[in-house]
Amino acid sequence: MSFGELLRGHRRAARLTLEQLAELSGVSARALSDMERGRSRGPQHRTVTALADALALEEEAHKQFVELARTGRLRDHWTRPARLCELPRQVDDFVGRATDLALINELMSPDHAGGASPVGLITGSGGMGKTTLAVRAARVLRPSFPDGVFFIDLLGMSPRPATSQDALWRLLRALGVADEDIPDDVAGRSSVYRSKLGDKRALIVLDNAGSEEQVRPLLPADGSSRVLITARRVLAGLEGVHRHTLGRMSLPEATELLAGIVAEREASGEHAALAQLANLCEGMPLALRIIGNRLISRPKWDLTELANRLADEEHRLEQFKAGDLKIATAFAMSYEQLADDARRVFRRLAAIPGGDFDAAQAAVVSDMPLEATWDALDELVDLGLLFDGTDGRYEFHDLVRLFARTRLEEEESAAEREALTARTT
Ligand SMILES: Nc1ncnc2c1ncn2[C@@H]1O[C@H](COP(=O)(O)OP(=O)(O)OP(=O)(O)O)[C@@H](O)[C@H]1O
Ligand SMILES: [Mg+2]
Repeated sequence: MSFGELLRGHRRAARLTLEQLAELSGVSARALSDMERGRSRGPQHRTVTALADALALEEEAHKQFVELARTGRLRDHWTRPARLCELPRQVDDFVGRATDLALINELMSPDHAGGASPVGLITGSGGMGKTTLAVRAARVLRPSFPDGVFFIDLLGMSPRPATSQDALWRLLRALGVADEDIPDDVAGRSSVYRSKLGDKRALIVLDNAGSEEQVRPLLPADGSSRVLITARRVLAGLEGVHRHTLGRMSLPEATELLAGIVAEREASGEHAALAQLANLCEGMPLALRIIGNRLISRPKWDLTELANRLADEEHRLEQFKAGDLKIATAFAMSYEQLADDARRVFRRLAAIPGGDFDAAQAAVVSDMPLEATWDALDELVDLGLLFDGTDGRYEFHDLVRLFARTRLEEEESAAEREALTARTT
């Protein structure tokens, strides 16, 4: 039950009209009406006590009344429109990505003419820096969007992604549509959303989209508003969007990022170790951030020693953990999205020696027909767990391969693994 419902219940039980309660409590009838309909922020404690007294609530009822108002206040703090869909804080030490930024800024600019699809899509594997880039671009573009920049995390990789219906509700509220003017169904919401965006110059960032169906109702029609999507999946079914794949950072960029994070501790002679560390992160910003955070939280650590630890493949993945950032978790989210066949192919690919492989080799280790193996490989590429290289060959990001190996060790029996080794050698 909400505070508004409880208030209305007590008022009716006391046989009071809104006006009478207003008279008794000193709270205006208008404010009371808003409270009962859940339209206003949770009332202040002073107001709540005045209402409880005017309603002559007994001890228990009084307590429940005050507590519910308090919960309402806390919830309102999170859901009130001003805070809805705000752009997250940007990282202070943003590095590189100049070409990507320039391209996105040009495509997303409301004045961009070329073929003008109002939608841009940044794809790339987990931890590659898609969200960071989108937030950066949105900040730069903010002056071009006088009606605001809005951001929503669609939780596409989680077991429970945001529904289009809920996302539309949040966006509409953020765009200033009153709760009672928001239709109940997706189609209705989507049409109000499109007409709102049609009248405005707003930029919407849809972060972490999970599927085409999820984002379609959130795309604008023509007009001056723009939508920028980030996704691990390629979302091949979205037509007419500007696509941009975010790849690895270059080694100089990666070294700069790491050097920036550990700036205060970099001593002379450590630069070589820093470059070696950056190299082991293979251009993945999440890995660089984790290593950087580990170094600043342990000032006594020797860079060379950490580089040596990382060089040891057996334990490398375990080293990529700092606070709540963990590489394995980022990969696990993608792994859990896969169908059973693709999971099997993924973990067994870790058993292939050497850097890259083709579909025939993948079919052999997976013990699956070639056709089904193709499908699984497509799914892996789609989610950014594999790269397709030249001549029909595929390759892992090294850290992803190590993750696949842990899956193999945990999910397959020793006998299966032995058989696998026999097959690959
Ligand atoms: N250009 C950059 N400069 C500095 N730090 C960066 C940069 N890009 C990414 N990072 C850091 O790398 C980490 C991962 O980046 P981000 O969350 O943007 O990746 P992502 O591609 O959105 O990942 P996911 O697929 O999990 O959503 C973050 O901690 C971020 O701070
Ligand atoms: Mg992201």
